[in-house]
Formats: sequence, C-alpha cells, structure tokens
Amino acid sequence: MKILVTGSAGKLGLYLTRSAEVLGCGRKDFDLAHDFSSYLERVAPDAVIHTAALSAISDCLSQPDLADRVNHLASARLGGWCRDRGVRMVYVSTDMVFDGERAPYDEESEAEPLSEYGRSKLRGEQAVLEQGHLVARVALMVGPALGERQSYYDQLVSHLRAGQSVSLFRDEWRGMLSYEDAALGLLQLVRGQGSGLVHLAGPRLSRLELGQHLASALGCPELVRAGQRSDYPSPEPRPRDLTMVSRRLAELLPGWRARSVEEQMKSWLGEA
Ligand SMILES: NC(=O)c1ccc[n+]([C@@H]2O[C@H](COP(=O)([O-])OP(=O)(O)OC[C@H]3O[C@@H](n4cnc5c(N)ncnc54)[C@H](OP(=O)(O)O)[C@@H]3O)[C@@H](O)[C@H]2O)c1
Repeated sequence: MKILVTGSAGKLGLYLTRSAEVLGCGRKDFDLAHDFSSYLERVAPDAVIHTAALSAISDCLSQPDLADRVNHLASARLGGWCRDRGVRMVYVSTDMVFDGERAPYDEESEAEPLSEYGRSKLRGEQAVLEQGHLVARVALMVGPALGERQSYYDQLVSHLRAGQSVSLFRDEWRGMLSYEDAALGLLQLVRGQGSGLVHLAGPRLSRLELGQHLASALGCPELVRAGQRSDYPSPEPRPRDLTMVSRRLAELLPGWRARSVEEQMKSWLGEA
C-alpha cells in the first residue's frame, strides 16, 4: 500500500514517514496554496494522510486568507481528487475546533472554535466529511521533534536543562498525546475502513503538570512555577480545557491506546 503523507517535513509528518509504506511529500514537491493535481497523478497513492497545514495559531491570525486557502480550500481539493479516484484519505484535524468550556468532548460534541486556526481547520473538516473521508481530530502532541525545528516539548527541555525557570499555565488542560502514538493511530486509521470523525487523545494534563513531570524527571522540580492564563493576555481567546474522548476507538482503532506522557518521558530523555 502506497500511503502519501502531506507535510512530511513537519513534526507529525516526520514521525509518519518512519513507516516503510509511507511516501512523504513536502513543500518542495508542491505548494498546497497552488495546483498540485499533476504531482498526485504522477505519484498515484493508494491512500493519503493529510497533515500539511498552516499550523501556527499566530500565522493563521495574521494571514486568515492563507489559512483558509491552505487549511480549508486545499484540503477540499485534495479530498475531491481522492474521492474521484477511490483513494482513502485521513484529514488530520485538531482539538482547537472546540471552545474549551464544555470538556470532555466526544465526536458528537458541537465544534465552536475560538481562533482563526480552529475555524480554518473546521472548514477543512466539513469539506472532506462531505466527500466521505475520515477526519482524525488530534489533541496537543508532545515529544521530541525528529527534525531541526523544535517542538513545544523540546523548548521546555532546553529551558530546564539550561537551568532557566519556566512559568506554565495551571488552568489550561489538553488530552496530550505523543507524536509517536498519534502517528501509530493515523497509520492504523488509513489502513482500515470507516469515515466520519474520530478523536485521538491522551489523558488530561495541564501545561503545569506536563512541566512538573518533565522537571522531576530532569531533577530540577524547583524550576517550574505555576502561571495562569490571565497573566499572559493573548490576541485570541485560548480554549481552557480541550480534553477529548472517543466513542469510536473500538470500531476504528482496536488495540490502539495513547500512552501517558509520564510513561514515555524516560525514553524521550534517553534514560530508558
Ligand atoms: N502540533 C500539534 O500539537 C497538533 C495538534 C492537533 C492537530 N495538529 C495538526 O496536525 C498536523 C501536523 O501538525 P505539525 O505539528 O506537524 O505541524 P508542522 O510541524 O507545522 O507541519 C506542517 C507541515 O505543513 C507544511 N505546509 C504548510 N503550508 C504548506 C503549503 N502551503 N504547502 C505545502 N505544505 C505546507 C509545512 O511545510 P514546511 O515544512 O515547508 O513549512 C510543514 O511541513 C496539522 O494539520 C495540524 O493542524 C497539530
């Protein structure tokens, strides 16, 4: 099975392209904001995992037209190409489609994004769902980046290893899961059957708790301080609690489980 992964130079894309069946494509192969059908015709994938996106919240806020073109319109074009050729597609979406006030969210919960990013991803979801594809909403991913660009987790580790203290929100929660578990789940989904929505998330954790686990593992718990969202005003409202659960794991992802971040931290830090 030839699985094409868009956004293969991205943080999630690099985890997915470790699988032998996967062919990665990045911006060097095509720009989503422009026409890409000739590339797809040439590659002729059996299935597609669509991870490429304008993924930085600040970029989507400053360039809403580009966010719409990439996250929504290009996803719809890619989805249309796949539907017309009977190619299975999994669109990678986000917990940021929710407002954070009514967690936990399952696949039937109403999506009400607070950010331009969340709105553009939701429009992308709606387009590919109408085409009969599968949308996997992934929670905040953590873990070491495989490429040169640092992940949120890498930045925290760098600060702590340098002896710098960090202030982390005690009042913001996510169902954090690792890039690795997200990639395993997405590969299982694309090889399987089924359409509609599915949530991929790990156990509920605040940003403060994440930092505390990490600092304890690194032997510097004193470096983590509790902050709160109101101390750091942001240009768009931040969802408070985006914990997600799934009603569809047994049907679509038998055997898959998101391990807790604490479980994986030792191997990330090279201590396993
Ligand atoms: N990170 C998270 O915690 C999280 C949580 C939930 C959902 N998601 C979703 O998961 C997916 C992957 O996230 P990520 O963290 O891996 O993001 P990322 O590191 O920013 O990777 C996104 C990739 O998309 C590519 N891309 C952006 N604009 C493009 C364009 N116009 N044409 C072609 N490629 C383009 C980027 O290419 P370049 O390398 O050339 O910039 C990059 O490789 C996204 O769909 C995101 O919405 C992420």
